[in-house]
Amino acid sequence: MDDKKVGFIGLGKYLPENRLTNKELEKIVDTTDDWIVTRTGIKERRIARDDEATSDMAVRAAKNALQNANLEPKDIDLIIVATITPDMFFPATACIVQNKLGANHAPAFDISVACSGFLYGVAIASQFVKSGIYKHVLLIAAEKMSSVTDWKDRSTCVLMGDGAGAAILSEVKEGGILSVHLGADGSKGDLLCMPAGGSRIPASMTTVEARLHFLKMQGNELFKRAVKIMAEAAQKVTEPLGLKGSDISLVIPHQANKRILNAVAKRMGIDPEEKLYLNIEKYGNMSAASSAVALCEAVEEDRVKKGDLILLDAFGAGLTWGAVLIKW
Ligand code: COA
Repeated sequence: MDDKKVGFIGLGKYLPENRLTNKELEKIVDTTDDWIVTRTGIKERRIARDDEATSDMAVRAAKNALQNANLEPKDIDLIIVATITPDMFFPATACIVQNKLGANHAPAFDISVACSGFLYGVAIASQFVKSGIYKHVLLIAAEKMSSVTDWKDRSTCVLMGDGAGAAILSEVKEGGILSVHLGADGSKGDLLCMPAGGSRIPASMTTVEARLHFLKMQGNELFKRAVKIMAEAAQKVTEPLGLKGSDISLVIPHQANKRILNAVAKRMGIDPEEKLYLNIEKYGNMSAASSAVALCEAVEEDRVKKGDLILLDAFGAGLTWGAVLIKW
């Protein structure tokens, strides 16, 4: 059992058609294209339709991954959806996806790990495959961040976007996941949260009027922590294997801010032009979906070759973080 290799046999994505550019945001809040590009690297983001919920995007990404893996929904043994923007509190979005896909015999559950959700999901899914409990696990990271975005708050509304990525984790003959590191620091949860709507502050007229159902973020506090923590997480999965940052073929990080990612690359001693995968300029920060979509696109664009060492590295609300080292 121990030498069973677990990897990705199919990847998929779905991005809503509607593009919201920085120029359009200039008309909504007091900001400029120049500020957004310089401070974040974002040029545009996708926004889901009003009638498009997280599960709808998740299903589209899942179908794409199933097709790429040459599998049918009935072949899926477990569905995990990583999201902080579920269709509703309950039932789980994963159950809604199970029904829409027709993957009838698959158990299904959500995980709420914000931007690190895809990496936590990879850790969970791979254990189920490694142990032999399940053969094919469908992991989807899907977010409708526009549904929790305060379009009056210029410090956050310019950052977020909607989308979904999916992966099927199964036994592979070569390569696979080499190492996983996960972390959390609940003492700093208030740096990025949606204050109301849960059991602490249930929804009421007052909470709506106070705009407490939107994401609140202390960006600069997170910025400092993100750089340090993502660089350390990378070390945690490389050093025990005798590897250095320079041994990594491609770093595919959570796409929160281009300046954060360049700073992480510098700490890792890698050339960002060559070894840092970025698609933030097209999509902004899609929370959990960012890493999943970035991995899918890096493969589509041929940036990932057989035998390459790929590092996924993420950080987000919770605080939570994770790193996953993969041999492709
Ligand atoms: N347009 C124009 N000005 C803006 C702006 C916008 N959209 N948003 C904020 N500003 C202003 C602020 O009001 C502030 O003005 P002041 O100096 O007059 O008070 C100034 O820009 C600097 O704000 P600050 O928050 O210090 O900017 P920053 O360089 O830290 O960049 C973020 C802000 C949000 C882009 C950045 O902090 C960030 O990306 N943080 C990390 C996000 C993250 O990792 N999240 C967790 C993972 S998802």
